[in-house]
Parts: sequence; structure tokens; C-alpha cells
Amino acid sequence: MKTMKAVLLEHVTEAKDIRLVELPVPAVRAGWVLVRVRAFGMNHSEQILRRSEIEADYIRKPIILGIECVGEIADPSDSGLSVGQKVVALMGGMGRSFHGSYAEYALLPAHHVFPIQSDLPWIALGAVPETYFTAWGSLFECLRLQPDDTLLIRGATCALGYASLQIAKAVGCRVISTTHRAEKLPFLANADEAILDDGRLTGRLHGVTKALDLVGPRNLRDTLTAVESGGIVCNTGILGGVYALNGFDPIKEIPNGVYLTGFFSNNPTQSVMDEIFAFLNSKRLVPVCGKTFDFSEIRKAVAAQDAGTVNGKIVVRM
Ligand SMILES: NC(=O)c1ccc[n+]([C@@H]2O[C@H](COP(=O)([O-])OP(=O)(O)OC[C@H]3O[C@@H](n4cnc5c(N)ncnc54)[C@H](OP(=O)(O)O)[C@@H]3O)[C@@H](O)[C@H]2O)c1
Repeated sequence: MKTMKAVLLEHVTEAKDIRLVELPVPAVRAGWVLVRVRAFGMNHSEQILRRSEIEADYIRKPIILGIECVGEIADPSDSGLSVGQKVVALMGGMGRSFHGSYAEYALLPAHHVFPIQSDLPWIALGAVPETYFTAWGSLFECLRLQPDDTLLIRGATCALGYASLQIAKAVGCRVISTTHRAEKLPFLANADEAILDDGRLTGRLHGVTKALDLVGPRNLRDTLTAVESGGIVCNTGILGGVYALNGFDPIKEIPNGVYLTGFFSNNPTQSVMDEIFAFLNSKRLVPVCGKTFDFSEIRKAVAAQDAGTVNGKIVVRM
């Protein structure tokens, strides 16, 4: 039987206890494809799963972590894809209700696997699927970003923040980015303005037409009052550790003429993936990557994620 290395979790697990185990390569079945994983990006949501969410009933256990990957089709089953085809995959229950990408092979539902055409190296590709799909949907589907917008990115020193900054600058927007750590202000040098966020931005900013809130409900009320009338606020992140707006009164707390929306990356499509790669290609953008690790160093990668020592996307290569 052919085997593969994977990270399989059953309970809350600290970085020091992460290890690779040997498992059978999954057998392919109708509607699913076998992907040879070449690289995967790490995500804040995997950290939440590993630290607490794994105890929830709706998480399959044991589970191979990982909500995204890039790789090649090893067995296309009945999908119409071909062996060796370059693909990205993300979400739809990956790493939660079925095994994810912290493995040499992943058996994935064909409708969440998207062929791509790109000459970028695997490591650069590994930074794309979840982060750029989320940035893209938040900026264009939700915020309807235009070149004459002034965009506020709140909680910008994360993978999603850096990707959103890169895309918005390439579009031609004025971008104001925030961090809650003074020492991280230099990492936001590509923004037009980098601001230390003490939780209260209302009255400090001028001309903000769109706001991408990655800190989330902890500060969202303040974001709503920091944008201009006619502005749109998109809540995409929960970095602040508060997951809901309890007691939220939309009549009094959404200012007149301000719009509130949210983005959830659970339903990626081929057409959006094509748009993202066409954009990266036409603007000659290299996906933003903070640090790379080999799969054999997965414990170090998870420890670096927990320590918050990496600036931007952590990509693991096989
Ligand atoms: N809605 C969706 O579908 C969707 C999809 C993808 C991601 N997200 C969310 O978007 C956010 C970013 O995800 P990611 O994967 O890009 O994160 P990530 O790269 O893992 O970044 C996590 C880092 O964000 C930094 N951070 C920045 N501002 C923070 C603040 N105010 N409070 C706490 N930490 C802060 C922390 O470092 P420092 O404290 O050192 O700055 C932390 O190390 C997360 O909340 C994630 O759950 C949502």
C-alpha cells in the first residue's frame, strides 16, 4: 500500500506536539480527485481549529489540517481533469469536514479544485488560493473597489492584509493600513499611510470610502464611524478574537448612508480564480509570502505561526 506523510489531529494540539504520521494515500472515488500537494499556505483559521475549534462536533476527527493547497492532479477520477494538471484547491469543508492539505496527497471534491495556468514557482503559488481569493472577493465583490477609492485596511499585518494592500495599490487606490504594534509600522511602507491602531480611528482619518476590517467585531463599530457617508465597510477578519457583535443595533450603529457587508471564502469559483491569475500576470505581481518551510519542518512552521514571528503568509513546500 502506498503511504504518505500527513499532520493528523484528534484534539487541541500545541505546536510542540505537531508531528508527521504515515497514512495510506487515499483511494479516489467518483466526484473526488487525488491531488499531489506541492505547497500549502497556512492560515489563521487553522490555528483557531488546532487551538480550540477541533473540539466542536461539526469537525471530523481525526482530521488532517489545511484549508488550501496547490499541486498536481495525481488521479482525476471522473472529473475530466488530467494527470499532472496544475491546480489550486480551497475551502468547502477542507480540513474541517474532510481531510485537508497538510499531507503529501489530498483527496478533494472535484468542484473545489481549480486548474490554473501560471509559471509562478510552487512557493509563490502556495501563497495564493485562500488569501488572494478572500482579498479579491472582499475588495471587488463586497467593497466594489475603484481606482479613486481611499481604502482603509484595519489589521493589515497579516497575510490577507498584505495581499489586499498589494492588490489595491496595483488598482491605483490610496491605501491607509493599520497595525496594533508600533514596531510593525515599517512593514506597511507600501501603504500611503500606516497608522498605529489603538482601537479608535473615528475622527483620525479623512476621506475613507472603503474599509476592509480584518480585526472584526472588536472594533467594527468604530470602523463604521471612521468611513465617509456613502462608504462601504467589509468585515472579513476576526483577528481581534471577538467573533460576534452582541447587542448590535443596526439602526443606531450603522451611520446613515454607510453600508456594511461581510465576505466568506467558502464558495470559490473557477472564474474568480482565473481573474486573480490574469490580474497577477498582467500587473506582474508576485504573491506576497512571509516565510517558507519544508514539510519536514512543519512543527517549526506551526511554532512560528503561534509566536507571530512571520510577517505575512507562511508557505510550506513539499
Ligand atoms: N472571511 C473569510 O472567509 C476569511 C478568509 C481568510 C481569512 N480570514 C480572516 O482574516 C484574518 C487574517 O487571516 P490570515 O490567515 O491572513 O492571518 P495570518 O496571516 O495568520 O495573520 C495573523 C497575524 O495577524 C496579526 N494581527 C494583525 N492585527 C491584529 C490584531 N488587531 N489583533 C490580533 N492580531 C493581529 C497578528 O500578528 P501581530 O499581532 O504581531 O500583528 C497575527 O500573527 C483572520 O482573522 C482570518 O480568520 C477570513
